[in-house]
Amino acid sequence: MLDGATPSVLDVKDLKTTFKTRGGAVHAVNNVSFHLKAGELLGVVGESGSGKSVTMMSLLGLVPSPPARITGGPVMFEGQDLLTASDEQLRKVRGARIGFVFQDPMTSLNPVFSVGYQLMEPLRKHMGMNKTRARARATELLQLVGIPDAARRLDDYPHQFSGGMRQRVMIAIALACDPQVLIADEPTTALDVTIQAQILELMKDLRDKLGMAVIWITHDLGVIAGIADRVLVMYGGQIVEHAPVRELFANPKHPYTRALLQTVPNVRGERAPRLRVIEGQPPILRAAPTACPFRDRCEHAFDRCSRENPARRPVGPVHDVACFWDPETGAARDV
Ligand SMILES: Nc1ncnc2c1ncn2[C@@H]1O[C@H](COP(=O)(O)OP(=O)(O)OP(=O)(O)O)[C@@H](O)[C@H]1O
Ligand SMILES: [Mg+2]
Repeated sequence: MLDGATPSVLDVKDLKTTFKTRGGAVHAVNNVSFHLKAGELLGVVGESGSGKSVTMMSLLGLVPSPPARITGGPVMFEGQDLLTASDEQLRKVRGARIGFVFQDPMTSLNPVFSVGYQLMEPLRKHMGMNKTRARARATELLQLVGIPDAARRLDDYPHQFSGGMRQRVMIAIALACDPQVLIADEPTTALDVTIQAQILELMKDLRDKLGMAVIWITHDLGVIAGIADRVLVMYGGQIVEHAPVRELFANPKHPYTRALLQTVPNVRGERAPRLRVIEGQPPILRAAPTACPFRDRCEHAFDRCSRENPARRPVGPVHDVACFWDPETGAARDV
């Protein structure tokens, strides 16, 4: 376990992303704050549309603006604020100091180039390697992520790899320039949970071997259960709970986290007999939140939850929650 003295490599304060659409504004990310420590594996969990991808893409300057407007901050990384950094500075950070694997096809593998070409490109661009060195390093990277017969496979194209192998290739590309931080956005479909678990296990090995920090984005708390150090739970564009993974499983505080936990399969892979797909619809993020985003789906909501958006408050040394309800007493928290 990492202690309080481990320095942060990434420090995000009050990040907000709003999209201007024909139907009005969409408040996709609302005052998101978190930090990432050197060498740690941070899980980010939440249902579809909760703002996981937009949060990470915003801090890397990967959401087109317009339509997006990104405010708040700072987002400190290696002594600079990524939100005010120039395009050129951001390009140096992206794919080099911060590697990423996004679910967005725009930022994933290009079908018309061989895998070797796509691996060698960042090595030549950011690391100044010549072709021979880049090729040797590309082979090494494919070996590192567990692709058999790596040297020969460099000349293959993305469609010649299975879904799981393609994801390994994307991780290899993200790792090419020895990043300080790797952000991995789990594909929503295509890969089954077993392959996801294998890839996450691989990330953990690589983290141990290479010492980088990892942010792992997922829908499934079960996938990160045994592997993450800390977890952020997102709902409606906000972080609603944050805790070390074991603490979150043992002592979940937010009604959304508690509902989410009931959907996690047990060790035999069975889901709870009363499969709790959380009822209700995710919020439409049309207005800046002035109430708790979960209130309409929450079995514990009371009037204050519709009047005020609860701020995150500490409930333990490394545990905070944005909720007015107290699971210990079953009543409103006295705040
Ligand atoms: N270009 C865009 N224009 C308008 N709204 C957008 C745009 N991109 C994302 N959004 C909205 O931002 C919100 C957050 O989306 P985001 O992709 O971050 O969710 P997510 O948590 O990553 O979901 P998933 O698990 O499905 O990947 C959603 O309501 C989405 O509709
Ligand atoms: Mg996403």
